[in-house]
Amino acid sequence: MSIGILTSGGDCPGLNAVIRGAVMKGDKIYEQEFAGIRDGWRGLIVDDVFSLPRRRVRGLSKEGGTILGTSRTHPYNGVGGPDAIRAVMERHGMEGIIAIGGEGTLSGAARLAADGLPVVGVPKTIDNDLSGTDYTFGFDTAVSIATESIDRLRTTTEAHHRCMVVEVMGRHVGWIALHAGLASGAHAILIPEVSVTLAQITEWVLLTQARGRAPVVVVSEGFQLKNDKGELEDIAAERGLDAAGRPRLGGIGEALAPLIERSTGIETRAATLGHLQRGGVPTAYDRVLATRFGHAAIDAVMQRKWGQMVALSGIDIVTVPMAEATKELKTVPRKQWDEAAVLFG
Ligand code: F6P
Repeated sequence: MSIGILTSGGDCPGLNAVIRGAVMKGDKIYEQEFAGIRDGWRGLIVDDVFSLPRRRVRGLSKEGGTILGTSRTHPYNGVGGPDAIRAVMERHGMEGIIAIGGEGTLSGAARLAADGLPVVGVPKTIDNDLSGTDYTFGFDTAVSIATESIDRLRTTTEAHHRCMVVEVMGRHVGWIALHAGLASGAHAILIPEVSVTLAQITEWVLLTQARGRAPVVVVSEGFQLKNDKGELEDIAAERGLDAAGRPRLGGIGEALAPLIERSTGIETRAATLGHLQRGGVPTAYDRVLATRFGHAAIDAVMQRKWGQMVALSGIDIVTVPMAEATKELKTVPRKQWDEAAVLFG
């Protein structure tokens, strides 16, 4: 018998550390065997599975990406569903599945568990938008990369007496923007949860310039500008849908920069950090969190906690129902943005 592991959805730093943590503890403490499933649910549907002994995960906690590969295949989108998965699991003698993924992956996993499949979840995402866990691994790394990038952009911005708009990822939540903006001392932080007008941004930028500083505006990819009538405006160009049918975000920074330049008269540039935020080695914090999640995931499998997801609560690792954790996105509370906004301008 074996336990299958898959990584699904957008990758993020720390996935390999979870895989290593689960396999090492599973091998050492529970004497379990593991099967690696290639490219998320796709591998489990089309039977793309390989043996994952302990030696295959050696030294992995510092590696970015995922040795299993990933995809945005959804188990219920007309590609096989629970019956195909059950057949592949039986063929390989899999007793349970550890699904490592974000909101889309874990809602698929919750549905499979409700349909009787033995699945436990591990929350990952740089966006930190999953309810039920205080933090997801990958987030700390993304914030560190974004912070370092903003620090670098600041020196060139100051040299030219310009304004810089830095776009970060995060989908419909502003956690990366808020944390990286605070860490780097941004003069304005624009997030999807709080829409502001161009007049307000202009005021912050001009106040910053008046103090002899080069303004740095951090904008989250899901931010929407509020017009004078209080309506939200999509100023970024449409970028179509991704493989999971979700709108591709990005472009707000490029769209905002000329508006700021026009309204302030300050030469303004835009930099989009994009997938840099998901690449490379995880921070020490993310390696530790991911390893602890991996350990807890194999414990959950051994305890047959199907339908549960491992999670961080304070400093403890706990389990919570996946169905609960995927009900709504964890957005930035207004209070936290207000705390940061005290320093804008
Ligand atoms: O969910 C993680 C994330 O990086 C988002 O912040 C971003 O909008 C999206 O994935 C990008 O997805 P893709 O890699 O498919 O372009």
